[in-house]
Amino acid sequence: MEKIRFEKTSAPKPKFDVSKVGFGTVFSDHMFIMDYEKNKGWYDPRIVPFAPFSISPAATVLHYAPEIFEGMKAYRTPEGKVQLFRPIENVKRMNISAERMCLPQIEEEMMMEALMEIVKADQSWVPSEPDTSLYIRPFMFGTDEQLGIHTPQHCIFSIITCPVGSYFREGINPVRIAIEKDDVRAVKGGTGYAKCGGNYAASLRAGERAAAQGYSQVLWLDGVERKYIEEAGGMNVMFKIDGKVVTPALLGSVLAGITRKSLIEMLKSWNIPVEERLISLEELLDAINNGRLEECWCCGTAAVISPIGELAYDNKKYIINDFKTGSLTRKLFDELTGIQWGKRPDPFGWTVPVV
Ligand code: PLP
Ligand code: COI
Repeated sequence: MEKIRFEKTSAPKPKFDVSKVGFGTVFSDHMFIMDYEKNKGWYDPRIVPFAPFSISPAATVLHYAPEIFEGMKAYRTPEGKVQLFRPIENVKRMNISAERMCLPQIEEEMMMEALMEIVKADQSWVPSEPDTSLYIRPFMFGTDEQLGIHTPQHCIFSIITCPVGSYFREGINPVRIAIEKDDVRAVKGGTGYAKCGGNYAASLRAGERAAAQGYSQVLWLDGVERKYIEEAGGMNVMFKIDGKVVTPALLGSVLAGITRKSLIEMLKSWNIPVEERLISLEELLDAINNGRLEECWCCGTAAVISPIGELAYDNKKYIINDFKTGSLTRKLFDELTGIQWGKRPDPFGWTVPVV
């Protein structure tokens, strides 16, 4: 690819205390941008000071939402180095999302280089306090100035980064989750498996209702029968029932989480059985009622691993594991975060050094 041009900021921002700001509210000094035109491909890759875009009010993203994104993190190791966690998986998933939304593909090496270079440029922004990291948000959207519904011919791909602490106020303490009865997030054949902005916009109403009742997230049911568990707002879910870990299968409406994939590989390496299959709400509530649900947790890049202490459905509340973090949840959290932050060996070869 063309060499990445670097325009260094002349006004670096002061650093701040990550524990005092909300998730993704304060951004580092630079951003990566490149442009796309159908006949030209991707061009002018550049790292420039963090600043607003200039797009037409008719830009297609503002009307029909061709927009996709990724979420990943750069971690500060105890030696002061910086590393990424399975970045190639995010690159591949970005291209899967792009294919679904008729947005252009990005060559894997090109996106990897962009990721490495933006993190290098803002390496001083990777925090070192416990449980903090530099959240990386690659995203792409269509910018054509044209109101007819069409496949974008002009796009922007960008990467912004922001130092973050815990996504949930609760940290590793259990969260309360509401199972949504009415709204649905995705259906098979729709865009559930793609990481596109529209999925999240459609989730807001249920999220608001849940938050008003004191719940941190919504747990979605399938969009056809409202019978099977799918995933949480920005996370996958796993249940430990009768000594086995059960997680909803990836059938098109659930996002293929990289944390999910990593935990499955980790559990299998410990000889703990994992089942990826349909799990009905009825089966889940039965398992809670007869004490067979030992623990359950959400998992994702932003949320890491969050134990679920309470599930609510249809005005009933179900407390799980006495609202305590279960031992397997804790073990997975310790091992995963140990690898991500370079505090433990990485037997799977998941981490990629940046500096
Ligand atoms: N499901 C949804 C809807 C998400 O937004 C995310 C977050 O990216 C996940 C699951 C978890 O995916 P990952 O582990 O790759 O962050
Ligand atoms: C992530 O975990 O990276 C996400 O994208 C989830 C959320 C912040 C939307």
